[in-house]
Amino acid sequence: MKQTIGILLSLLLVGTSWSQTEGEINKKVASLISRMTLEEKIGQLTLYTSGWDQTGPTLRSEYMEDVRSGRCGNLFNAHTAEYNRGLQKVAVEETRLGIPLLFGYDVIHGYKTIFPIPLAEACSWDMNLIEKSARLAAKEAAAAGLHWTFNPMVDISRDPRWGRIAEGAGEDPYLGGLIAAAKVKGHQGEELSDPSTLLACVKHFAAYGGAQAGRDYHTVDMSDRVLRETYLPPYKAAIDAGAATVMTAFNEVDGVPATGSKYLMEDILRKEWDFDGFIVTDYTAINEMVPHGYALDNQHAAELAINVGVDMDMQGAVYQNHLEKLVLEGKVSEDDINASVSRILKYKYKLGLFDDPYRYSDAEREKEVVFSKEMMDHSLEAGRKSIVLLKNISVNGKKLLPIDPTTKNIAIIGPLGNNKEDQLGTWHASGDVNKAITLFEALKTALPNANISYTEGCKTSGADQSGFKDALEAARKADIIIMAIGEDYRQSGEAASRSELGLPGKQQALLEAIHQLNKPIVSVVMAGRPLTIGWMEDNLSAIVYAWHLGTMAGPAIADVLLGAYNPSGKLVITFPRNVGQIPIYYSMKNTGRPFDANNKYTSKYLDVENTPLYPFGYGLSYTDFEYSNLRMSNKTLNGDGSINVNIQVKNTGALKGVETIQLYTQDLVGSVTRPVKELKDFRQIELSPGESKVVSFTITSDDLRFHTQNMEYKAEPGKFTLYIGGNSVDVLSADFEYKN
Ligand code: NOJ
Repeated sequence: MKQTIGILLSLLLVGTSWSQTEGEINKKVASLISRMTLEEKIGQLTLYTSGWDQTGPTLRSEYMEDVRSGRCGNLFNAHTAEYNRGLQKVAVEETRLGIPLLFGYDVIHGYKTIFPIPLAEACSWDMNLIEKSARLAAKEAAAAGLHWTFNPMVDISRDPRWGRIAEGAGEDPYLGGLIAAAKVKGHQGEELSDPSTLLACVKHFAAYGGAQAGRDYHTVDMSDRVLRETYLPPYKAAIDAGAATVMTAFNEVDGVPATGSKYLMEDILRKEWDFDGFIVTDYTAINEMVPHGYALDNQHAAELAINVGVDMDMQGAVYQNHLEKLVLEGKVSEDDINASVSRILKYKYKLGLFDDPYRYSDAEREKEVVFSKEMMDHSLEAGRKSIVLLKNISVNGKKLLPIDPTTKNIAIIGPLGNNKEDQLGTWHASGDVNKAITLFEALKTALPNANISYTEGCKTSGADQSGFKDALEAARKADIIIMAIGEDYRQSGEAASRSELGLPGKQQALLEAIHQLNKPIVSVVMAGRPLTIGWMEDNLSAIVYAWHLGTMAGPAIADVLLGAYNPSGKLVITFPRNVGQIPIYYSMKNTGRPFDANNKYTSKYLDVENTPLYPFGYGLSYTDFEYSNLRMSNKTLNGDGSINVNIQVKNTGALKGVETIQLYTQDLVGSVTRPVKELKDFRQIELSPGESKVVSFTITSDDLRFHTQNMEYKAEPGKFTLYIGGNSVDVLSADFEYKN
C-alpha cells in the first residue's frame, strides 16, 4: 500500500513537472541559456548521425567527442532503448550542463513493424487509419529511445519518375493536407509529455516534389500561385495541426535554395503561418548552397541559413565550424542564436527530458510494444485498405477475382512473390525483415490444401532470363497464375528517380512469355510509384496494385485475392499511359483548345491518348456501386451561406463493400483560369448488397477560394459545376452560382 501511494505520489509530481506551462518552460529555458557558452549554444543547433544507420554521406565520425564537449546536442540514426540510454548517459553525466540529447530518426511508415508506404496508405482515404499508423509507429519508436521522427513527408508530386513520390500522399493538395494533419496528430498525440509520442517534422519545405523531370534534388521553378495553391497546403495543414518541427528542402525554389530562403522560412513559415517550432535542415542542405551557386563557401552558407531562421544544422557541421566566428565578426547576432537555442530547448523540456532524460529509453516497454499483436494487426489492416484493384473483368462469364478457394494448383511467379525485404518498401527504418510475411507464405497458410508453387523467374533488374524456363514449367502446371512483379525497395525513395516507368529488368518479357500459355493470370504489382502498365491493362483480366505494404503485405494481399477482404483503395495519383504524358494529373487546366478528337489543332498528342491509364480517385471493388439522384438544396450559394448536396449510392453487387464518394468543383470563369476539377470533400461508406444510402455534403464559399489575379485568397462570384462520383472521371454533375 505504502509503495503504491509512493508511486502515485511520484507520478503526480512527475506529471506536474512534465505538464509545465509555456511560461514556466520559457523561464527555465532563459535561465539555462544564460549559463551557456556560445559554443554550447551552437552545440544545441547541431545534429549528427550516430553512424549506426547512415542515410547520407558522413562528414563527421567523431560525434561522441562532440557530445561530450557539448558541441553536439542532438543525434539521429541512433535507436533502441539500450543504445540510446548509453548515449544519453554521456550527455547527461559527462557534459558541463548535462543537457539531454534529442534523438531523431526516419520513422516514415513504421519503426520495426512496417506499415504500407505512405503513397499506398493514402489510397485508403481513411484518416483514422492513417492517424493510427502514425500513432502506433510513434509508440514503437518512442519505446526504443526516440523522441523525434522526420515525418510526415508531405511533398505533393505529380511526377512518378521522382522516386520519393512513394513517401508522400500523391498529387492532391486537399487530400494531402488532411493526411499531413492526421500524421502530425498521430505522432504527437494529445500531449508531448506522454512518452509514447514523437515530435513530428514536416518535410521537405518547400516544393521538393516539384523537381524538374522528376530527377531527385533537381531545380524547382514554379509560379507563386502554383506554389501556394498546389504545393504549400499540406505543409500549412501540418503546421496548423501543431507540428513541432519543419525540415528544409534540398531544392531551390525560384532561384533560391530553400535552406537559405527568407521568403519560405521567414515570410511564409514564421510570419504568415506563425510557426514557433524549430527548423532543421535536410542532410547537409546548408553546405549544398555552395554547389547550388548561392553561397561562396560553408561559412557564407551558415550565415545565410541562420539569418533566415534555420535553427538546426543536420550533419553539415557548418554551424559548429563557423557560427562562432560569424558572431565575432558581427554577421550573425547572438540574440538570433539564443532564439534558435530556445526553440530547441523548449521541446526538450516539453518532452520531459530534463525531468527524466531516459524516459523514452524503456527496454521493458520496447519489448512489449515492438511487434506486439496490436502492431501486426494494424499492419495487416492498413495493408488491405491500401490495395487498389485496377482491373477485374469476366472471362467466360466469371471474374478471376476473388480466386476460387477450391483452386487446386496456384503458381506464384515473379521476383516480388517471396521477398521479405522488398515488400517493406523504401525508408523501412529498422523494420525487421525476418518478421515480414510474403505472399507465397500467406497463400500457403490460407489454402493449406492447394498446391502452391513459387518461382522467381527473374530479378527486378538486369537481363538474366535463365529463370524463365522454371517459371514457364510452373505456370504450365497451374490452374491460375499470380504474377508478383514490380519494383524492389531500392527502386523508389530517395535518389531513386527513373526515366522509364515500365517493369524494370526482364519482368515484362517474363510476363509476356507466361501470357503466351493462355492461362488465367492475376497480376499483383508491388511498387513504390505508378508504373506504366498499359500492356497489362490491354492483355490481362485482373490487376491488383499492391504497392509496398510492409510487414504484413503477404497476408493483406492474400486476403484481397481470396475475397476475405473486399478491396476499397482508390488511387491518389494519376497513372500515365507512358512517360511522355507526365505530368498528368486530374486537376489540369482546360487550355484555349481543349481536346477534340476531330480537330487536329487542339491540345493533344499524336501518339498517345490524352486520358490517363487510370484516373485519380479510381479503384474497383468486388461489388458495384451505382450513383443517382444528385440533389442540391439550392442552385445559388449566397455570401456566407451554404448549399447541401445529396447523392444516393447503392450497392448493386453481391458483396458488402466500402466506397469512397468524391466531390469535386470547377470554377468556370475566374480572374485566373481554374482547374477542370478540384477535390473538395469525400465520404467513405460501407454498403451491404442491395443497400443504398444518401450521402450529404455541404458547400460554402470557403471551398471555392483560390489565389485571384492579385493574389488575394478568396472566392469569386460566378458559375460553378460540381461533380460527384467514385473517381475523378465517372461523375454526376450539377451547376450552381456563387453570389457574394
Ligand atoms: C535525407 C532525406 O531527404 C530526409 O528526408 C531524411 O529525413 C534525412 N536524409 C535524414 O535521414
